[in-house]
Amino acid sequence: MAAIRRAWLGSRPPARGTTPPTAVAIAPGRLPVLGHAIPLLRRPLQFLTSLPAHGDLVEVRLGPLRAYLVCRPELVQQVLLNPRTFDKGGPLFDAARLLVGNGLVTSGWAEHRIQRRLVQPAFHPGRMASYARVMCEEIDAVLSAWEPDRAVDLNATLHALTIRVTMRTLLSTTMDSRAVAEVQRCLPVIFKGVYRRMIAPIGPLHRIPTPENRRFDRARARLCTVIDETVRARRSAGSENEDVLSILIDAQDEKSSKRFTDDEIRDQVMTMLIGGTETTASALGWAFHLLGRNPEAERELQDEVDRALGGRPLPAFSDLPELDYTRRAVTEALRLYPPAWILTRTTTAETELAGQPLPPGTIILFSPYVLGRDPGVFHDPGRFDPDRWLPERVSPAQRGATLPFSAGSRKCIGDAFGMAEATLALAAVSARWQLRPVPGATIRPKPKAALSPGPLLMLPQRRHRPVRSQVSSLRAGDQ
Ligand code: HEM
Repeated sequence: MAAIRRAWLGSRPPARGTTPPTAVAIAPGRLPVLGHAIPLLRRPLQFLTSLPAHGDLVEVRLGPLRAYLVCRPELVQQVLLNPRTFDKGGPLFDAARLLVGNGLVTSGWAEHRIQRRLVQPAFHPGRMASYARVMCEEIDAVLSAWEPDRAVDLNATLHALTIRVTMRTLLSTTMDSRAVAEVQRCLPVIFKGVYRRMIAPIGPLHRIPTPENRRFDRARARLCTVIDETVRARRSAGSENEDVLSILIDAQDEKSSKRFTDDEIRDQVMTMLIGGTETTASALGWAFHLLGRNPEAERELQDEVDRALGGRPLPAFSDLPELDYTRRAVTEALRLYPPAWILTRTTTAETELAGQPLPPGTIILFSPYVLGRDPGVFHDPGRFDPDRWLPERVSPAQRGATLPFSAGSRKCIGDAFGMAEATLALAAVSARWQLRPVPGATIRPKPKAALSPGPLLMLPQRRHRPVRSQVSSLRAGDQ
């Protein structure tokens, strides 16, 4: 605490009998020009997790920009439930705009309302069963290639899986395998570049023609071209496909009569590719990692899968209600390692938070990672315990502090999609394989644009599966 310098946002002294304005601590370790870019780059999770000890709002410098980390869940809820005043903005979204233009995730309050109405039908619960079919086909293809005791890099495998699932549900069969491979090559370069631009939002730094900046520019341009070509081809061929792209092409807003242009469709497709792949792959990677280190939880999950699938090798959409523990394991992995580990907002008007007056243009940060490990909210927060999500155990405060999909009107539009994909993949793997960590492998979170486990080498070992007749009380296969 001694190292912390204090700054006052409000200069007026507190009125007697009212809550005094608390000082806003400045996070330790600030450098001129770079601000806190070094700790944010080198050890961001430790750095952010240390900040709630300094106050409800803590000042962090992103390069030359002043931002405030909101450290208490109820204050974060206050931010999220007032999206007009705490709008999208700040360095994460400025960096993301480089890539996804003005798509759903980056658009400002007014524009967002129209866009969300246009995109929402693509995520209608009635469409989930057909998406789940694609998920199961792709999961099956991955698992069929595994061999006992031949190590797989689960992180790379899951990224490839989620990219294929998202591309097939978004773009149906329009993309050939060359284009899919191209997207798979471009996305990691892009994720890395976006994070660097967020923590050090110093424009000229990212325009220097370094090999890294050039790689980022090339990957971005290539991804745009691939999507533009796909949209053009689909428009000229007409839209017979039942995929997300068809919905975007046909969508018209009843209130404003707005339709998406080709550029806007590209922004939305990019948004979903970026928002739906790395996130789901990371969540799944962490779930497998945590289960591999918690044999009891792993056994409980396997038992549930055996009961629910009744000897079938692959789950189906209709199994999801029976996969309750599996879903809780995903939720618990998301609490401990939320892929969207840091998010930003910008105030659009004068407002107040935690008793502090905030002028328009103030950058607000919040971290689902920090909130999900709050020892004041979660007992033994570092422990992987899917049962903490049992309805009789979970408290409203714990639900409120668990924000892997954010909340309010900007809550992830793909939350049900991502949860279904992760639950089905976990169940499909557990039905056939037991994954063991490769001895000696150390896993550390790699916080970039998403919180990934990085390379995740695991050894698949065949599981003994129950004989179908022994589980006759279970539902028949419905693939
Ligand atoms: C486990 C998987 C996922 C996680 C953890 C996740 C996380 C998030 C979070 C935290 C936000 C809100 C960002 C903010 O408040 O600033 C968000 C928004 C969004 N996500 Fe996801 N996401 C996941 C899966 C998906 C999938 C599968 C898709 C699409 C296929 C998707 C598409 C989007 C879009 C379009 C938005 C913007 C929503 C809006 O502002 O209206 N996400 N996601």
